[in-house]
Amino acid sequence: MQSLDAVSSEIIDAIGAADSLDALEAIRIDALGKKGRISLMMRDLGGIDAEARKQAGQALNKAKDEIAAAIEAKQTLLASAALNARLSAERLDVSLPSRPEIDARLHPLSRTIEEVIAIFAEMGFEVAEGPDIESDYYNFTALNIPPEHPARQEHDTFYLPADANGKRKVLRTHTSPVQIRTMEANEPPIRIIVPGRTYRSDHDATHSPMFHQCEGLVIGDGIHMGHLKGCLIDFCRTFFGVDDLPVRFRPSYFPFTEPSAEVDIGCTRNNGALKIGAGDDWLEILGSGMVNPRVLENCGYDPEKYQGFAFGMGIERIAMLKYGIPDLRTFYDSDLRWMRHYGFLPFDAPSIHAGLAGGAV
Ligand code: PHE
Repeated sequence: MQSLDAVSSEIIDAIGAADSLDALEAIRIDALGKKGRISLMMRDLGGIDAEARKQAGQALNKAKDEIAAAIEAKQTLLASAALNARLSAERLDVSLPSRPEIDARLHPLSRTIEEVIAIFAEMGFEVAEGPDIESDYYNFTALNIPPEHPARQEHDTFYLPADANGKRKVLRTHTSPVQIRTMEANEPPIRIIVPGRTYRSDHDATHSPMFHQCEGLVIGDGIHMGHLKGCLIDFCRTFFGVDDLPVRFRPSYFPFTEPSAEVDIGCTRNNGALKIGAGDDWLEILGSGMVNPRVLENCGYDPEKYQGFAFGMGIERIAMLKYGIPDLRTFYDSDLRWMRHYGFLPFDAPSIHAGLAGGAV
């Protein structure tokens, strides 16, 4: 059997040679663990006589303390070596130039919707919404567009497959069904604008099968055409940022308004260049009219008591005009170069006074 001195110097040497914290832990278990060499020698003390036991016990305790101290010292050494190795491997070069930041842009359609909302919010309008998948009733019938009405064909409607009752839902062809939903669910006075997606089976440089509209509806006691005109003239001048912008109301027809008017703004066209403002030409930008008494009745309102006006505009169209975007299809191309050119910085919040000065970056 090896002497205590031989065993303990073997262990101390092994500690000195250990090259990792794992190896050191294995040595510790082998020496001081429950079944370690030193622990077993301690246990064997029981078999010898008292005087010899005392001496051997002291020697064993001393050896045990020395081993424990050696392990602790080596542990500190290995841990700091590991830290140094990591520090030099993971060194950062703080003198390198920073990576260029790619800042996001707000899509011109989002921006235009925000601007329209900001202008009407200032006039006391609230935002309302409705579903994109609509029943035939809300999209057509309640708006005084009965079956067989020619307007149904003009809308190039997308129909969904018929349900169990043979009824076909539609992708709403305009935001006007939200007029009906709002009147059914509320009492006058009503003052809402409804931005949202609309769908028609049509595709060219100025039409897309999915596009955006913003509807407006005002219902109250004694609302007349003067309110409609004042509200829309103010909107056009603020949106295009031209204080004296000429606005013209041209008689038209919509089944859900009577009388109806198309709204044109003044412009000049010079060799293909369009300039919005006083000039010798006109541009159509929205549809409007006094809510047809039949529509009021369909919503359970008494037309003798309440009147109102409604309007609807294409968001793509007014965005193209304001920001000089020539092709409507590019709105949906998701081309980052296009976004960098026509997009907006997100913190450049729309202001109702921004006008053209707040234009594309
Ligand atoms: N819904 C009409 C369209 O899509 C626009 C409109 C809305 C006209 C409200 C008058 C009143 O063309």
